[in-house]
Amino acid sequence: MSWLGTWLGVVNDVMLQRPHTWHLYADPKRACKWSAVEGKTFVVTGPTSGIGTTTAETLALLGAKVILACRTVSRGEELVKAFEAREKKEKGKYGRGVKCEVMHLDLDSLDSVRAFASALNAREIPIHCLINNAGVFDMSGAHRFTSDGHEQHYGTNYLAPALLSLLLLPSLKRAGASLREFDEAFSYTSYGRSHDSGPARIVFVCSKLHEFSHGVDLEDANFVNRKYGARAAYAQSKLAELLFVRELERRLGVNDDGVDVNTGEKALVRSLAVHPGNIITGVVRTLPKFVQVAYKIIMSNFLLTPAEGARATLWAATRDEALVDDYGASTGIAPYFTSDCRARPPSKHARDDDAAAALWAKTLETLDLPADFDPKSIGAREEKLAKKQAAAAAKLKARQVRGS
Ligand SMILES: NC(=O)c1ccc[n+]([C@@H]2O[C@H](COP(=O)([O-])OP(=O)(O)OC[C@H]3O[C@@H](n4cnc5c(N)ncnc54)[C@H](OP(=O)(O)O)[C@@H]3O)[C@@H](O)[C@H]2O)c1
Repeated sequence: MSWLGTWLGVVNDVMLQRPHTWHLYADPKRACKWSAVEGKTFVVTGPTSGIGTTTAETLALLGAKVILACRTVSRGEELVKAFEAREKKEKGKYGRGVKCEVMHLDLDSLDSVRAFASALNAREIPIHCLINNAGVFDMSGAHRFTSDGHEQHYGTNYLAPALLSLLLLPSLKRAGASLREFDEAFSYTSYGRSHDSGPARIVFVCSKLHEFSHGVDLEDANFVNRKYGARAAYAQSKLAELLFVRELERRLGVNDDGVDVNTGEKALVRSLAVHPGNIITGVVRTLPKFVQVAYKIIMSNFLLTPAEGARATLWAATRDEALVDDYGASTGIAPYFTSDCRARPPSKHARDDDAAAALWAKTLETLDLPADFDPKSIGAREEKLAKKQAAAAAKLKARQVRGS
C-alpha cells in the first residue's frame, strides 16, 4: 500500500506540478533575492546541462561570481561565452560582463573532489553557497561503478557531493562569518547593511523519488549482493543526500530555530535540499534516441522547463524565506523545498535521526575521514580571520556613512 501511495504521489507531482507552481514567475531571476547574489561567490556543480545551466546563468546575470564545476572544462568555457553573449544582449553597453570561472570537477572520482576543494580553499576566498546540482539517473539499467568502485548513483549523487561539502566548509565558514559580522555591525541602522545576512549555504538538488527508498543499505550500498535496479539506486542516493543534509546541520550545531546551539548566534553555514520538480533535461540521455524524442513530445505538456526547474534551487540558495518563513518562524532543521518553493517534510525515512547518524559514520569511513571529524571545529581559523576583516570593513563603512 505504501508502495502504491508513493507511486500515486509521484504521478500527482508530475501531472499537477504546473498548477502547483502557478504562483511563481516563469523567470528564474524572480526566485532569487537579488542582494544576496550580487558580489557573492557561488559554486555550481553540473552547470553544463539542464537545471544547472539555468541556475549558473541566472546567478551570473545577477552579478554573482560563479565557479562552474564541470567535468569537461571546454564545455564550461563555451558556457561562459554563451552567458557573456546573453548578458550583452540583455544589458547592452551598460553591462559589466559576467564573472564566471571554470574549474575541473569529476564526481566520478573522489580524488578529483579532493583536488577541486583543496585548490579552492587555498585561494582563501569566501564561498557563499555551494550548489550540489550535478547528478546521474542512468535509466539504461546498467549496473555501473565510479572509478573508486562505488555504485554510480551512490558515488556520484551522494558520496562525492558529501565529500565536497565537508571539504569546502572552511571557505563556506569564511563567508558565513563575514556576513554575520558585517550585519551585526549595522543592526541598528539601515545604512550600509549588507541586506544579505547569510548564513553561507549548501544546497543539495535532491528528488521526490527519494520516497521510493526506505533506507540506505549500509552493508550493501553498491547493490552487489542484492538485485540492482536504476530507480532503487537513484532513490537510495537521493535519500542518502537528505539524511546527510540533516546530519550535517545537526553536527554544525544548528537547532530547529536555525540557531547555533553552542553560541546562541545565527548559524554560519546551513544545509538545505530541494526537489526541483520534473523537468525536461538531459536526464533521459541514457535511453534510446527514439524513446528520448517520444518522452519529450509526450511529456512536454506536463514537465517543467529547466528555467522553471531552477527556481527551487535559486530560492533555497538565496532567499531569507528559505530559512525563516513569512511569519518569522524558522523553516526548521534541514529545510526541504519542492518545486513550488514551499517547505515540506521529506519522507519519514529521510527524517530518521538514527539512520542519519549511522549513514554519517559509514560515510566518514568510506571517505577515509577520521571518525571524529567535527564540522563545528573545521574552519575555526578562517572564521576568526573573516570576522576580523568584516569588523574592519564595517567600521570603515560606518565612517563613510557618517561622513556622507
Ligand atoms: N530532471 C528532473 O526531472 C529532475 C528531477 C528531480 C531531481 N533532479 C536532479 O537535478 C539535478 C540536475 O539534473 P538535470 O535534470 O539537470 O540533469 P542533466 O541535464 O543530466 O545534467 C546533469 C549535470 O550533472 C553533470 N554530471 C553528471 N555526472 C557528473 C560527474 N561525474 N562529474 C561532474 N558532473 C557530472 C552533467 O555533466 P555533463 O554535461 O558533463 O554530463 C550535467 O552538467 C540532478 O541532481 C538530478 O538528480 C532532476
